[in-house]
Amino acid sequence: MASYSQGLLFTILACACVLSTLAARDLADDRSIVARHEQWMAKYGRVYSDVAEKAQRLEVFKTNVAFIESVNAGNDKFWLEANQFADITENEFRATHTGYKAPVGGNKGRKTGFRYANVSLDALPTSVDWRTKGAVTPIKDQGQCGKLIF
Ligand SMILES: *[C@@H]1O[C@H](CO)[C@@H](O)[C@H](O)[C@H]1NC(C)=O
Repeated sequence: MASYSQGLLFTILACACVLSTLAARDLADDRSIVARHEQWMAKYGRVYSDVAEKAQRLEVFKTNVAFIESVNAGNDKFWLEANQFADITENEFRATHTGYKAPVGGNKGRKTGFRYANVSLDALPTSVDWRTKGAVTPIKDQGQCGKLIF
C-alpha cells in the first residue's frame, strides 16, 4: 500500500514536472531567443545603433529562426542554420547586397534562402576513404605528370 501510493505520488509529481517544464518553456522562449540573438550578434560581430534597432532586428531574427526550426523539425535530409544575414529582410538584402531589383510580382513565392545556410546531409559522407581522395598516394610513375601530350 505504501509503495503503491508512493509510486502514484511519484507519477503525479513527474507529470506536474513535465507540465510545468512545458509552460516554463513558453515563458522562456522569448528570453532564449534574445539570448540566441545575442550569441548570433557576437558570432557575426553585429552591432546596432540603438535599442530600437536591436528590437526591430530581433523580430526579423525571430521570424527567420522560426522558419529554420520548422524546416529542421520536418526532415532528416538537411538542416538549416542562421547565417550572417539572419537579421535582415529580403528587401534589404536585395537592396544592399545584389543591386538587383526584382520585377514587380516577378519573384513571388521564390525562396532565396539567403538568411540561412542549407547543410545537406547527403553532402556529408558518413565515412571517407582518404586513399581515394588522394591524401594517401601510392608510389607511382609520375613521368607524364603535368605534361601535355600532342
Ligand atoms: C536544402 O537543401 C536540400 C538538399 O539540397 C533541398 O532539398 C531543400 O529544398 C533545401 N531547403 C531549403 C529550405 O532551402
